Amino acid sequence: MVARRVLVASGPNLDRLGTREPEVYGTRTLDDVHRGVADAARERGVEAVCRQSNHEGDLVGWIGRAKDDGFVGIVLNAGAYTHTSIAIFDAIKASGVPTVEVHLSNPDAREAFRRRSRIAPACVGRVAGFGAASYVLGLYGLLSSLDESR
Ligand code: DQA
Repeated sequence: MVARRVLVASGPNLDRLGTREPEVYGTRTLDDVHRGVADAARERGVEAVCRQSNHEGDLVGWIGRAKDDGFVGIVLNAGAYTHTSIAIFDAIKASGVPTVEVHLSNPDAREAFRRRSRIAPACVGRVAGFGAASYVLGLYGLLSSLDESR
């Protein structure tokens, strides 16, 4: 049987994890985060395809084409675009597959401008504040909502 594929997409500045504001984001690199979520997916018979871009258009393209590219759902850390991007909101709506919003930090406990998520209304749920585990928990939430809708 072919494994179900999930897209794990990370946005701007997340390529700097490990050295970027370690007091906020910890010292694990994005590769570490990807390895953790890919292992968790494999244990559940799912393939996680992990990508990162600093460019909004890349994220819009990946998300919008997700179903056509064979993904059953998306785990998305849109970084700062979370708070600004109607284009990513629209792409999530257009993708035809469920998206879970994830964050390493807890944006609600930080600056006021992080308290608004532009993408949240297009997502099935959100996990924030648990570091790399947010990605794994987001994956579990996604798989559980996919199983419920079968
Ligand atoms: C973030 C939170 C965002 O507010 C911020 O702009 C990021 C990272 C997180 O994972 O905690 O780049 O998405």
